[in-house]
Amino acid sequence: MHPLLKEKVMSAQEAAELIVDGDVIGASGFTLSGYPKAVAPLIAQKARRLHAAGEPFTISLYTGASTGDEMDGELTRANALAHRIPYQSHPDLRAAINAGAVEFSDLHLSHVAQYVRSGFLKKPTVALVDAVDVTPEGHIFLSTSGGSTASYLLMADRIIVELNGYLGENFKGFHDVFIPKPPPMRERIPIYKVDDRIGMPYVAVPMEKIVAIVQTNAPDGTRPLKEPADIDLTIAGHLVEFLKHERQHGRLPEGVPFQSGVGNVANAVLATLAREPDLDAVCLYTEVIQDSVFELIDYDKLIFASGTALTLSIPGQERLKREMDLFKSKVVLRQQEISNHPEIIRRLGIVAMNTALEFDIFGNVNSTHVMGSHMMNGIGGSADFTRNAYLPIFMSPSTAKGGAISALVPMVSHVDHSEHSTKVFVTEQGLADVRGMSPVNRARHIIDRCAHPDYKPLLNEYLEYGLKHAPSRHTPQVLSRAFEFHLRYEETGSMLPK
Ligand code: COA
Repeated sequence: MHPLLKEKVMSAQEAAELIVDGDVIGASGFTLSGYPKAVAPLIAQKARRLHAAGEPFTISLYTGASTGDEMDGELTRANALAHRIPYQSHPDLRAAINAGAVEFSDLHLSHVAQYVRSGFLKKPTVALVDAVDVTPEGHIFLSTSGGSTASYLLMADRIIVELNGYLGENFKGFHDVFIPKPPPMRERIPIYKVDDRIGMPYVAVPMEKIVAIVQTNAPDGTRPLKEPADIDLTIAGHLVEFLKHERQHGRLPEGVPFQSGVGNVANAVLATLAREPDLDAVCLYTEVIQDSVFELIDYDKLIFASGTALTLSIPGQERLKREMDLFKSKVVLRQQEISNHPEIIRRLGIVAMNTALEFDIFGNVNSTHVMGSHMMNGIGGSADFTRNAYLPIFMSPSTAKGGAISALVPMVSHVDHSEHSTKVFVTEQGLADVRGMSPVNRARHIIDRCAHPDYKPLLNEYLEYGLKHAPSRHTPQVLSRAFEFHLRYEETGSMLPK
């Protein structure tokens, strides 16, 4: 190691001691990939020690998106988190947010880096990043996620690098780091094809800002994806039939890239696309690249994938290491501001496929708040893509909790994506394409195609009641009844009448 770097090497314990009460940490990490794993548990330990001595110690944590137990879990359990931005999925952190113990700002992921650079959010005092290499010139080569890390490194006063040997230096070259100029003299972002590279493979920082280098060797603590359930495969099947139909009718130009959201359904959809002989190889311009990328590669169905995170299972990470050069020729990782940028999503004409918690008969979608109140994960990039996509699609099983909840309701209990942005809905019951329809026709079509048979008569009855009694026949919502499904669930534990 170069002497300039060697003098900064210290233990995770020593690095954690550099964090002080009130620090704002801007960390790498996106959907459990590329997050720092060594220092955060020791910051949690420090918090416990100080709290036991009656001293205050909390920090704010900004990341790309969700991180693993070593970070979100440990810091939450140590009561060390005051404020968390912009997305999370750890059960302990989710519980603390819903208990009001941690402040959470749920932001569009494409906005975060600009918010930080523009001073809309408190400036990060420390950047804490997982990297595969750092050079004496101050070039930091990020690991499996881009996130908003480049902007955190730019803005922070002090930098702690976790130099992670797990992937090896051959991982260098995956990233394309580009930061747009500030407004109003902003130029176009020159990505015209999914595989265009417009930036640098590293983030350049002044060496003097690097205050610690901690050597680690650990894979990302990703959760294994479940084998696709029948219901996921049925949803994926409807979607693939629809895409083929659109292609035949000339409404889906060859080569439009796909974005696919997080979770099991999203993974099943891409795996189904891979196995579909009638669909050509695809490009992904997406946020998270999951294990389904292997299926696309194995079936020779992947032209190229651009994302901000490579979120792979442990066997997936091992395969990545074995086939690094092949992956590097097929994948680029960008900052989330670019992977989710409206300009590029519009230009490339993306088919966006995301998962809803619930949606209503008029086409509004709730992705974040169970029963209008309980935060699940956050909006993530779902709105960045939905609002700007060529063809936005929402998927969901038609019921949850063993049938006690209908995903299709008279009025969503929280709106993340309004009727103006949404176009296609898919459940295991079928697919509703509501492009260009008026609200009442949308409602009829969505109920007919997507509702579970147990809930279909209730939804039809609500619509007909509205058409007779609502103040307007345009969107016939009846406020006194709009939340009757939700209220019944709160009172009886089921949205179905007894
Ligand atoms: N009401 C109450 N609970 C519901 C529900 C509803 N309408 N719909 C689903 N749930 C529950 C499920 O029962 C499950 O609970 P469990 O964990 O106790 O089993 C949980 O929510 C997750 O549901 P699941 O079907 O496993 O969904 P998922 O893993 O596919 O995730 C979202 C679905 C909506 C939570 C997830 O996609 C998300 O966070 N989306 C927002 C961000 C996003 O879209 N990011 C991608 C953009 S690039």
